[in-house]
Amino acid sequence: MGAGALGCLYGYFLSKRYDVVFVARGKQFEALKRGLKVTGLIQDFVKVNVVDKPCDADVTFVTVKSYDTENVARTLANVDCGVVVSLQNGIGNEEILMKYLEKVLGGVTTYASNLVDYGWIEFAGVGETFIGEMSGEISEDVVNVVEILRSCGINATAVDDIVRMKWIKTVINSAVNPITAILRVRNGVIVDIKELWNLALSVLREGEDVLRAMGFDVKLEDVLRDVLVKTAKNKSSMLQDVERGKRTEIDFINGAIIRKAEKLGIDVPYNKALYSLVKGVEYGLVEGHSSFRSTNIRA
Ligand SMILES: NC(=O)c1ccc[n+]([C@@H]2O[C@H](COP(=O)([O-])OP(=O)(O)OC[C@H]3O[C@@H](n4cnc5c(N)ncnc54)[C@H](OP(=O)(O)O)[C@@H]3O)[C@@H](O)[C@H]2O)c1
Repeated sequence: MGAGALGCLYGYFLSKRYDVVFVARGKQFEALKRGLKVTGLIQDFVKVNVVDKPCDADVTFVTVKSYDTENVARTLANVDCGVVVSLQNGIGNEEILMKYLEKVLGGVTTYASNLVDYGWIEFAGVGETFIGEMSGEISEDVVNVVEILRSCGINATAVDDIVRMKWIKTVINSAVNPITAILRVRNGVIVDIKELWNLALSVLREGEDVLRAMGFDVKLEDVLRDVLVKTAKNKSSMLQDVERGKRTEIDFINGAIIRKAEKLGIDVPYNKALYSLVKGVEYGLVEGHSSFRSTNIRA
């Protein structure tokens, strides 16, 4: 559900053994009717089964941006969509899906895919996929989904701490995405410039404080440096959104950290500052790009 960069990559792999229906819209829907082109780590062109409305399925992978989750959850409630697996970044997607749907699993993926053009993805990085119940249980559904992914060559593991994993990825993203999107720089610049590294660390420390109060005692400085060094030449997803004049997932990344911090009585001024600046960048996009589809920026 949401056959964009990530949805098409997973759909491509899953099509090797299963009947996969890609749910897309607009120009992407029209382009996928002709087929899916894959470049990067794999070169291929395949015919795919694409529709523009969700349909019955045994398993539904949700791969829309977080701000589209609520809308998609409502439409999925009208069909028998089976086990629903969110592979999205950020915090809150599973909770939104659970309001409308019965069986929802959490997911974290470090696979990387970019939309080069409509109907064309670049497979940019092999990663890992972690699947788990939000309750921490490793249920039969979790085991089955992991088996399905593995049988198609996707690295996948069943985990009993998907909530913790989602928060850790979100805290890392909170220190990378806004800075790169505001300054319009690639990830590696954050380690190259001492002042930016110190800023990223300050954001990270706030996230660690929130994680600690949630019972997740983690030290993420080395993880952050490692991510930045390994992805030095990459553009973060938030930077890509800004460059395309699209809304960002800031509300589900730094926004989620701010909301959780408020509940826990923790001060997170760096997160608040970056959140405000990204909102300003989004506002600038509204001015410059009529295609920008946000309704809450001017309020
Ligand atoms: N790309 C990656 O490498 C990657 C890696 C890890 C995690 N993620 C996460 O995965 C999620 C998806 O990312 P992405 O990069 O794949 O985004 P994306 O390329 O924008 O793909 C999302 C797709 O869903 C479509 N969509 C939204 N609502 C729809 C609806 N109601 N019906 C049909 N299609 C609909 C969008 O259409 P429009 O373009 O018309 O809005 C878009 O084509 C995000 O949470 C992201 O943070 C991505």
